[in-house]
Amino acid sequence: FRRLLQTPASADWQLQTAVAFDIDGVLVKGKQTLEAGRRALSILSGNNKHGKRIPFVLLTNGGGVSEAAKAADISSRLGVEIHASQIVLAHSPMQSLVHRYGSQHVLVVGGIKNRCAEIARSYGFTNVSTPNDLVAWKPSLWPFMRAPASDHLSQPVGRDFSEHPFAAVLVFHDSFDFGRDLQVVTDVLRSQDAAAGRPFVRRQTAPLFMSNEDLVFSNEYPLPRFGQGAYHVCLRAMWQALHAGTDAPQLEYSLFGKPHPVQYRYAEGLLDRIAGSVGGMTDFERLRRCRRIYAVGDNPAADIKGANAAGWTSVLVRTGVFAGPPGSNDAVNPAAAVVDHVEDAVNWIVETEA
Ligand code: G3P
Ligand code: MG
Repeated sequence: FRRLLQTPASADWQLQTAVAFDIDGVLVKGKQTLEAGRRALSILSGNNKHGKRIPFVLLTNGGGVSEAAKAADISSRLGVEIHASQIVLAHSPMQSLVHRYGSQHVLVVGGIKNRCAEIARSYGFTNVSTPNDLVAWKPSLWPFMRAPASDHLSQPVGRDFSEHPFAAVLVFHDSFDFGRDLQVVTDVLRSQDAAAGRPFVRRQTAPLFMSNEDLVFSNEYPLPRFGQGAYHVCLRAMWQALHAGTDAPQLEYSLFGKPHPVQYRYAEGLLDRIAGSVGGMTDFERLRRCRRIYAVGDNPAADIKGANAAGWTSVLVRTGVFAGPPGSNDAVNPAAAVVDHVEDAVNWIVETEA
């Protein structure tokens, strides 16, 4: 492995180490950029006592934007050039669903306006509708819409949804209208086609894929905020209430997002490609055997649980969801190390790998 590190292309890279950073609560808190985040990425870019660059990716349960847009946003806020190929959003691994549903009519939920539909189309889904589209087509479907001027309404569509049943429901990001999206998704999952007004059936008529089950996350508000997981709880509770006393099965769904293995396999693929591009690696198996991946996060239920299960080394910071006192760790999902903020985390990693 030393041989590979001596090659000029990789001389300044330390490829047997890699870091996956969570974003919200670690590098930023909503619109607030954390100075420790800026310093942490600078350290990994070579400003450390070994002069080594350590490959890193950003592994977030956030989304609702493209990987390129997220990379540009974080680059400008943290002063380090980050590429789309270093970004894992909650919905990034949902690209694997294109081979099954790419040409079928899918409902994509979450985010502002129809931005998630545009992202889904950029992944290869060719027949995408959103709750906006359904309500624009039949406003009475959800009579509690905010004033038409609200910025997340789409333009009325010409499509007649009554003849277009949905093959799957994909929740890409947090809902910006819980009530509407609870109504629309429940309609779709209880009927062959939601908007036709045909009688509901007492079984789930389409698969449901959720991109992030975080009950809470950390932004600039001093206390954790509800995440996409809050929408899941409401959706499951409504399904149960609507089918109380019947033999209707529970709502079934497949989960993406941290702590689920699919997210970590996807991130490892990105790290393999980074190593290949900088180190001219041909021997990924050797790289994989000796590479140690660190995950820095603020949410024990997502970041630490997922990293521990993936065989990575987890580092918990106190700048987000976890608010334990100094010296404490999470009892349910203990991290390998607990530090005050992400700069401490990176310094601990550099020291550990020295
Ligand atoms: O919506 C984003 C939130 O659920 C968590 O984001 O970056 O802390 O994984 P992050
Ligand atoms: Mg976080």
